[in-house]
Amino acid sequence: MRVPLDGLPERVTVYEVGPRDGLQNEKSIVPVDVKAEFITRLADAGLTTIEATSFVHPKWVPQLADAEELLGVLPRSPLNRYPVLVPNERGLDRALANGVTEIAIFGSATETFAKRNLNRTIDESLAMFEPVVRRARAEGLWVRAYVSMVCGDPWEGDVPLAQVASVARRLMDLGCSALSLGDTIGVGTPGQVTALIGEVVGAGIPLDRIGVHFHDTYGQALANTLAALRAGVTVVDASAGGLGGCPYAESATGNLATEDLVWMLDGLGVQTGVDVRKLAETSLWMADRLGRPSPSRVVQALAPKE
Ligand code: HMG
Ligand code: MG
Repeated sequence: MRVPLDGLPERVTVYEVGPRDGLQNEKSIVPVDVKAEFITRLADAGLTTIEATSFVHPKWVPQLADAEELLGVLPRSPLNRYPVLVPNERGLDRALANGVTEIAIFGSATETFAKRNLNRTIDESLAMFEPVVRRARAEGLWVRAYVSMVCGDPWEGDVPLAQVASVARRLMDLGCSALSLGDTIGVGTPGQVTALIGEVVGAGIPLDRIGVHFHDTYGQALANTLAALRAGVTVVDASAGGLGGCPYAESATGNLATEDLVWMLDGLGVQTGVDVRKLAETSLWMADRLGRPSPSRVVQALAPKE
């Protein structure tokens, strides 16, 4: 049954990160043809923006070392966007050589995670991103900026909102078109999310540029998403079947499951264009390939019963 709530957008863009954030954290390396089929099935379920892979150092993330091969076999359609993660100019060169038109850089709100994830301080990572964004924009690419550890950091604890907003501002000032606020370890709660969005908007970043990226470690991802939507956000990152994590962040588990998100938005009458049943079938298929059940409650509830 559809029952709307006041204060929500009419439509939400789901930014699917399963093939990248999900598969980067799998112990096994998923074969490239399975990745390509996964992405094709996600598109078929109505997802239009699908983060496909990363052009990072293959030793740092061996699960995505096949980025070139994957883009070579992935059927492209003008209806779909396939952004990829790019940390540096070497990554950008690889992305450009493979016909990528949308990239995402990824900064950190904390020094510890910047060091662990990028082998750089915050200042050094911004210096690394600067030529990436400049060259990407000159080539006509769309550039998104992630900020990680926006609700807390496993090494540093609480992260001041002003610190998050400052890094976000510096990333956007490089010339990025969109921002994604990442609760990498899933510790945030809805009041914190509301305050965070207020702080980021207060730093001069318009709401229509802001996306949210929740991991579900403490079961708060859906509640945090609702808080973000009520604060005016309309772009939500999610991962099919709740796959995910970050290999360089202790205690990061899966992202908000796309099925859980779409089930809630369908019930609220908020359009996404995504067919939740088709998507859940895809996540069941992927769970079979990975040899473990999907953590998504909606995927489990929609699974055919014996
Ligand atoms: P580094 O070791 O400092 O690299 O790593 P370097 O710049 O010193 O270069 C060393 C060698 O690596 C050089 O080769 C480079 O060419 C090569 P050599 O000259 O010695 O032969 N190299 C590369 N090769 C291929 N592709 C590249 C590349 N770059 C350098 N792109 C680096 C620095 C940034 C490369 C490394 O730290 C890295 O790859 N980090 C990626 C970590 C990662 O992918 N983490 C997960 C994604 S972030 C995330 O999940 C959070 C998010 O979901 C949001 C949230 O939840 O909060 C986005
Ligand atoms: Mg993430």
